[in-house]
Amino acid sequence: MKPRLIVSRQIAAAVVDRIHAEYDCPYEGKEMTVDDVIAALTAHKADALMITSHVKWDAAAIARIPDHVKILATCSVGTDHLEIPALKARGLPATNTPDVLTECTADLAFMLLLNAFRRGYEYDAIMRDGWKRGYGLGEMLGLRAAGKTLGILGLGRIGRAMAQRARGFGMRVLYSGPRRLTPDLEQGAEYFADFRAMLPHCDALSLHAPGGAGTAGIMNAETFALLPKGAVFVNASRGGLVDEDALVDALTSGHLFAAGLDVFRSEPGFDKRFAALPNVFLCPHMGSATVETRNAMGFRALDNIAAVLAGRPAPDMIWS
Ligand code: DGY
Repeated sequence: MKPRLIVSRQIAAAVVDRIHAEYDCPYEGKEMTVDDVIAALTAHKADALMITSHVKWDAAAIARIPDHVKILATCSVGTDHLEIPALKARGLPATNTPDVLTECTADLAFMLLLNAFRRGYEYDAIMRDGWKRGYGLGEMLGLRAAGKTLGILGLGRIGRAMAQRARGFGMRVLYSGPRRLTPDLEQGAEYFADFRAMLPHCDALSLHAPGGAGTAGIMNAETFALLPKGAVFVNASRGGLVDEDALVDALTSGHLFAAGLDVFRSEPGFDKRFAALPNVFLCPHMGSATVETRNAMGFRALDNIAAVLAGRPAPDMIWS
């Protein structure tokens, strides 16, 4: 008999194929709420649950997961939608999908950076509006990447992949985070123990830190003001790191040249003031959204589920 699985959201086709081959799963590809998931787990007597970061699982929700569920596997590297102490207190194994999304998320963050530097949204809008006149050599100018300094908050896996791309474009890289890395991981990036002290040196700032209480609102009126006038801001980590009123102010006042944003405090119903600003390049939380990466994330989640159901340690446990 195949193990029973519930999947709380639409996932990549190749992952669905593997699920149907290996699991008894009533997959419909719909976006489920906590109530939907609990009902499905109970009705199906599920052994395992695969989720994504679209729904928060707080202690109350975690307490409602039936005892026959042996593992919760999230198809995300981020874990801020999970109340990890509650999972641990319950002894419910829980896993994420690190590593496999590093390159694609850094690609997207660098795409945000280049579009912010080079006015990607405005150029595209001009073309879609019929390119009604030619532009003089002093009009619609962006900023050159080469020679600029990029500050990175969080030189973890994705932050380091972002730094690698920046070096390839001739940029100097600074970083800040809880601790200094070894030189082989730094690859020449310069460390600032004090995040605020780094900001005045950044032509561009890119956030790659986890969400949650430790980083909530770390970009606010005070920290945006510490960036030099004309800086560019990129966020492909979590919207909760940013005070969005302060970001809108910094963009409308001209303190920031531009921003590239993939994540927002409210998703999918994001703050529409950003959509009215021509100097913002917007994406709908798509850092890992490539065929290869979404397949790899799903397969990694399934590998974790298989390990736990077979009585083996999960490779990507998020608590110990
Ligand atoms: C992740 O993997 O954490 C992505 O941001 C999707 O939630």
